[in-house]
Amino acid sequence: MLNDIKALQEEINSFSISDDEQLEAFRLEFLSRNGKVQSMFKNMGSVPKEERAEVGKAMNQVKMLAESKFEEAKAALEQKESKNLSAKDDITLTPPSYPLGSLHPLTQTLEEMKSIFFRLGFTIADGPEIEDDFHNFTALNFPPNHPARDEQDTFFIKKSDDPNIQDLVLRTHTSPVQIRLMENTEPPIRAIMPGRVYRNEAVSPKSYFLFHQVEALYIDENVSVADLKETLITFAKLMFGTDVKYRLRPGFFPFTEPSLEMDIWWGSEKDGKWLEILGSGMVDPNVFKHAGVDPEKYTGFAWGMGVERIAILRHGIDDIRTFYENDIRFLEQFN
Ligand code: DAH
Repeated sequence: MLNDIKALQEEINSFSISDDEQLEAFRLEFLSRNGKVQSMFKNMGSVPKEERAEVGKAMNQVKMLAESKFEEAKAALEQKESKNLSAKDDITLTPPSYPLGSLHPLTQTLEEMKSIFFRLGFTIADGPEIEDDFHNFTALNFPPNHPARDEQDTFFIKKSDDPNIQDLVLRTHTSPVQIRLMENTEPPIRAIMPGRVYRNEAVSPKSYFLFHQVEALYIDENVSVADLKETLITFAKLMFGTDVKYRLRPGFFPFTEPSLEMDIWWGSEKDGKWLEILGSGMVDPNVFKHAGVDPEKYTGFAWGMGVERIAILRHGIDDIRTFYENDIRFLEQFN
């Protein structure tokens, strides 16, 4: 009898289970009601009394062996199955989410501005951020001792006492790009020139030493102040909506005559204020002469607007510094 038990034990050990079918075959062979383990117990009656204790113990061990082999094999097969059903195959699983970045609010505002000008038939031009004195000031009709040339407003890259050597500056506005464009383009010209500008100003909620402008230039025969006004108002309506509250005021710039400034109402009807968004005007004939355009033949208008100012109006932001701090909590609001 003990030999039979031993043989059964070996049989159980050598039975290989590698799939569900074999698992079921194993169960039928050894653990079912008519299986070999139960049959063995049925033979217990024929075992001599004095051997029963020992045989019974051996039988129980074989039964436990069969049961634990069954359970282990079952668990292993289940695990294998769940691995096969990993996220790779299960197309109903929600995909993992990755944090997405977004465009900076200034970039978003600039993109909106550009798309408005594209609709109005303008193209894009650009110029260097390090400018020479001629393009940043002289060609734009700034007199030699204009306060804007002062070191308090302008970051100088190179400054010379020799009048034959040009100063180099970080451009204080995008207007020098107008000059470069006129120098190398035959009118008609209809272009915008976006970019960074620099001014040596104390940092405060209202001002920063770096900001962005979009310059616009329109040159053709018979361009008039009425065209300028019409284009300004069209822009304001496309940018801020048809019910935008705006006003045009006379202004002064060395490079335009006459000059106009545009303000947009910021805040509620009762509790708000005017915010200046741009300077503009009819290009001064002296500027045309400096840039090689015939002032007898052509007239034109130009304007320069602050991208930060427009973003402030669009999004109700009251501190210009937030644009440059890159605080993720601020930026996330513009997703
Ligand atoms: N460059 C001026 C500034 O930075 C803005 C400006 C005014 C640009 C009038 C123009 C213009 O083109 O015609 O304040």
